Amino acid sequence: MLTPMSTMIEHIDKSRLPRHIAIIMDGNGRWAKEKGEDRLFGHFHGVESVRNIVEGCAELGVEYLTLYAFSTENWDRPEYEVVGLMELLVNTIRKEVESLNKNNIRLHVIGDMSMLPDYARAELNEALEITSENTGLNLIMALSYSGRWELLNAVKNIAYEVKQGRLSVEAIDQDTLQRYLCTSGFPDPELMIRTSGEYRISNFLLYQLAYAELYFTQVRWPDFRKENLYEAILDYQNRERRFGKTSEQVLS
Ligand code: IPE
Ligand code: IPE
Ligand code: MG
Repeated sequence: MLTPMSTMIEHIDKSRLPRHIAIIMDGNGRWAKEKGEDRLFGHFHGVESVRNIVEGCAELGVEYLTLYAFSTENWDRPEYEVVGLMELLVNTIRKEVESLNKNNIRLHVIGDMSMLPDYARAELNEALEITSENTGLNLIMALSYSGRWELLNAVKNIAYEVKQGRLSVEAIDQDTLQRYLCTSGFPDPELMIRTSGEYRISNFLLYQLAYAELYFTQVRWPDFRKENLYEAILDYQNRERRFGKTSEQVLS
């Protein structure tokens, strides 16, 4: 049984919040199917969860929230679903941009934007521009994103810089690599949540999740609400993050 929401939020230690939470929003299709509805019905309801969780993170003071909305592999889904998802994305952004601005939320996008249809890219660019001065929550949408695509892209760009004589092989370190990732400028997520009972990463932030605490829940994304987020944060706060050290070292 869930602890009532008011009690759960009281137990969260505000001084030890994850700065960056990343979420694989999974289970829309199954949620809809279980209700005898089309998969797109699930995606449509998933937007309500996005709104609720963005609000929850902003209220708590989480600095970065990355949402995995569409993977490079998702392009291989049936055409009607891909088209439906793109339309939903554009309509949602159009509807929500004003409220993002009002709440001082800055939108970012990571992923292969060249794959998006022109109308979706144009809408996104406008929203990025409109929210670019905001200083509250950073909302990072992973769209047409995959970790392998990102790493391949980084390697190619680094190789190009070396070829041009602007970078020496010896100078390449972890900071260099991070600068060539789409997430340069964002801290690594401390907490990664996946909904819907799947226990995998599905090509999400492969490099950045190296030391993230992973939290899996059976709850399907369209049912995921603030109280589920609080539960995940409480679970995170009960863990000991050792980064390869011993428990004694961490506690001293
Ligand atoms: C997540 O829900 C949303 C996207 C991948 C776009 P799914 O569409 O993967 O739903 P399931 O996993 O099939 O239930
Ligand atoms: C991961 O979910 C991608 C997103 C949530 C956007 P998928 O449903 O595509 O992942 P798999 O196929 O179950 O691994
Ligand atoms: Mg899925």
